[in-house]
Amino acid sequence: MKATALAPSNIAFIKYWGKKDEKLRIPLNGSISVNLSNLTTTTTVEFDKELLADEISINGKKEENTVRRVIEHLNRVRNLAKINFRAKVMSINSFPASSGLASSASGFAALTLAATKAIGLKLDEKQLTILARLGSGSACRSIPDGFVEWFEGESSETSYAKTIFPADYFDIAVVSLIVSKESKILSTTEGQKKVIGNPFMKIRLSRMEEKINMIKKFIERKDLDHFGKLSEEEALEFHSMTLTSNPPVFYWLPQTVKIIHLTWQWRKEGLPVYFTIDAGPNVFLIIKKDYLEKLKTKLKESNVQKYIVNYPAGGVRLITKHLF
Ligand code: PMV
Repeated sequence: MKATALAPSNIAFIKYWGKKDEKLRIPLNGSISVNLSNLTTTTTVEFDKELLADEISINGKKEENTVRRVIEHLNRVRNLAKINFRAKVMSINSFPASSGLASSASGFAALTLAATKAIGLKLDEKQLTILARLGSGSACRSIPDGFVEWFEGESSETSYAKTIFPADYFDIAVVSLIVSKESKILSTTEGQKKVIGNPFMKIRLSRMEEKINMIKKFIERKDLDHFGKLSEEEALEFHSMTLTSNPPVFYWLPQTVKIIHLTWQWRKEGLPVYFTIDAGPNVFLIIKKDYLEKLKTKLKESNVQKYIVNYPAGGVRLITKHLF
């Protein structure tokens, strides 16, 4: 009753922010993302009838809130399988947790596949995305391969994720610049609750379907310029939602702003580079693979040293090497 899964993190070009059902994590809008090859979580789960309590270790730590969410997720899996054994869970990220590099997405995607496999459940990809979503919304997008759409849905069964283009369809790289390794100032779960009552959300939501259709069209056409500009526009709109929440949440640091300006400057100089930013200070640069070396030179010249280069990647998968 033991299994290990490896899941990529993902970055959303059209973001999920706000839920219409808090408990079921049904989002206010659909979202579009790509899996990231070098931001991954590996998780081993073993169910054991001799264990008296779940034993959870995430990056060598037992942080209270994370442990609680992991146990809640194991309970979902135990309920589905109708097996009540406790489990040992060990999870390791390839990147700093709570840094705006969505560790909950890869974390809950890996946990979902490892736990369901270890307990003997046979779920198809759609069912896995639904289950992962209950652990952490964006985790559902780390289950399928490549470029992924999470359909908003009206119920748990209709809010799921699916590949829209394979990983090798659009030859981009996503470079995660690590502005800060500190924990984000506010968890996404808490940040998202604050959109309730934000008058600007109404305008945002009224344009979401159109935005989703546009970004899909730009990916389909491999049109980096329109794709990149829409991704930037969306990131800035998302952050304007957090800024106009009550109380406001401001995720950026001075270095975040510096990199936004540098991106625009480099673009003026002819480098086709674009940014997106999640709920944290780190910036994700989007560029065609061919221009990666030029971007690295620019980063070096600007003294930006800490970054991780990612390529579009497959989704969650089982691996044979267990962590314990
Ligand atoms: O899944 P959560 O609760 O970590 O929320 C993710 C929210 C954003 O990363 C800001 C946007 C997104 O769609 O990934």
